[in-house]
Amino acid sequence: MQKFILVGYGNLASSMMQGFSTHQMFSHCSFLIYGRDFERSKAFASKYPNAQAIPSLEDHLSQDSTLILCIKPKGIQSFQIHQSFFLLYSVMAGVDIATLQKHFPQAQNFARSMPNIGASIQKSSTSLFCLGSLEAQTLAKKLTQAFGSATLLASEELIDASIATNGSSPAFLSLVAEALIESGVREGIPLSQSRELVYATFEGFAQLLLTHSPQEIKALVTSPAGTTAEGLAYLENKGFKGILQEASHQSVLKAKGKI
Ligand SMILES: NC(=O)c1ccc[n+]([C@@H]2O[C@H](COP(=O)([O-])OP(=O)(O)OC[C@H]3O[C@@H](n4cnc5c(N)ncnc54)[C@H](OP(=O)(O)O)[C@@H]3O)[C@@H](O)[C@H]2O)c1
Repeated sequence: MQKFILVGYGNLASSMMQGFSTHQMFSHCSFLIYGRDFERSKAFASKYPNAQAIPSLEDHLSQDSTLILCIKPKGIQSFQIHQSFFLLYSVMAGVDIATLQKHFPQAQNFARSMPNIGASIQKSSTSLFCLGSLEAQTLAKKLTQAFGSATLLASEELIDASIATNGSSPAFLSLVAEALIESGVREGIPLSQSRELVYATFEGFAQLLLTHSPQEIKALVTSPAGTTAEGLAYLENKGFKGILQEASHQSVLKAKGKI
């Protein structure tokens, strides 16, 4: 029987634990909660039916344990664990597997994931990389799916590369939503109604993406010499797509420590 230990009690830990306590794959499993403040671990654990706080890590780690690290990246420095256990699953941005191996040299398998803000409603778009057995990879994917969707990437480098496509992109899309709402107001639509129209557009667009590519949606909306064609031509002339691509690239460079 797999044992799960969640390290951390911050925002992302809450979102993930919400998924682990409600998703049918894990709601019957118990999760041990460990953090550097035992009182806060207890307060955190008390919110979930299948969670229990523990005062120390070493007493609970064994061959069938999965350790889920959900702490700030600098927190890795306080761990030097020499016990063997099944899987180390980390959400820490920018902490690579080579570093994890230094602090957990006996971990048998490693997984790194990059969740996004959607985790707060169990709808995270999460990139995932796993170094280890197929069994570990399957478990890492299931853990990730408890709080959204999991996209398994072929190399660890692609986790940092995915920072813009799933990590930062909700902020980029917020900018688009904000601009569209303000455009409605500029043309005379009351703010609340402009918001309502844009929110519903995003909702419908998200549904359409399940069956259509962005190119197909664009073609469906754009009639020859029509209003959308005029707007798209303006955006293309101003380099809108190129700006978004460059912004994404800057985010990736930052994630890789290159700027
Ligand atoms: N939030 C997101 O959407 C998101 C997305 C992708 C990746 N991540 C990653 O998820 C991790 C947690 O983010 P968060 O948003 O949940 O942050 P958070 O709400 O600030 O929580 C941080 C957690 O880390 C612990 N911690 C901080 N410094 C520590 C140290 N030196 N030693 C041990 N524990 C330490 C905190 O415990 P104390 O309060 O006791 O310090 C707390 O449990 C980060 O590594 C981040 O890169 C988050």
